[in-house]
Amino acid sequence: MSGHVVIAVDGPAASGKGTLARRLAAELGYAYLDTGLLYRVVGLILIRQGLDPADENAAAEAAIVFDAATADFNDPALRDEETSKAAGIVAAFPAVRAALVDVQRRFAANPPGGAEGGAQGVARGAVLDGRDIGTVICPDADYKFFLEADIEERARRRVKELRDRGDTVILNLVLQEMKERDERDRTRAVAPLAPAADASVVNTTNLNADAAFALAMSLIR
Ligand code: DC
Repeated sequence: MSGHVVIAVDGPAASGKGTLARRLAAELGYAYLDTGLLYRVVGLILIRQGLDPADENAAAEAAIVFDAATADFNDPALRDEETSKAAGIVAAFPAVRAALVDVQRRFAANPPGGAEGGAQGVARGAVLDGRDIGTVICPDADYKFFLEADIEERARRRVKELRDRGDTVILNLVLQEMKERDERDRTRAVAPLAPAADASVVNTTNLNADAAFALAMSLIR
């Protein structure tokens, strides 16, 4: 390794991992990668091509041709419920996961950016959030956090996020969808959602973003 720091933040949907990971990256001046977006991009490609996200060959093909350099990670459709569902389906396919390993490991090994960093264009560290960062993608990460929260609380957060965006959503449907996605993430054969043995597990059900951030920083420092 090149001497920089890698932080893994894993957990289920709306556990607060994205908020924490982004904040750690900003505070520490590290590069940040939301790895869920990679699976979302693959899911959205299939939706837009009129293909079934459950079509394993089509999903694998989309993941293989996926190019992080040209993908539009700001497309609002990436956050749609339909895309969330498709992402969860494609993420269970081993060939899709295998195709996306390198882009994640390259990011961890050579975090882009870093005005304050060491070598030109390389940040001093990387924060990656996802489901399998601490277990599969970066098992040697310097710090590992696994966030969790009660599913009802996570569904409420997700509803707020979608309503803030202007979407009309029903709590019970979001809750049902989240249960299905959790189940798929936790029970899939390859890289299931689970805390690494050496991860700090943080339950955010009654912890706001500031408290989760303060706790993570105290563990890092
Ligand atoms: O974190 P998210 O909700 O944006 O993730 C979208 C889907 O991708 C979710 O069903 C889990 C899956 N995913 C994964 O399997 N591995 C990751 N490292 C990140 C996300």
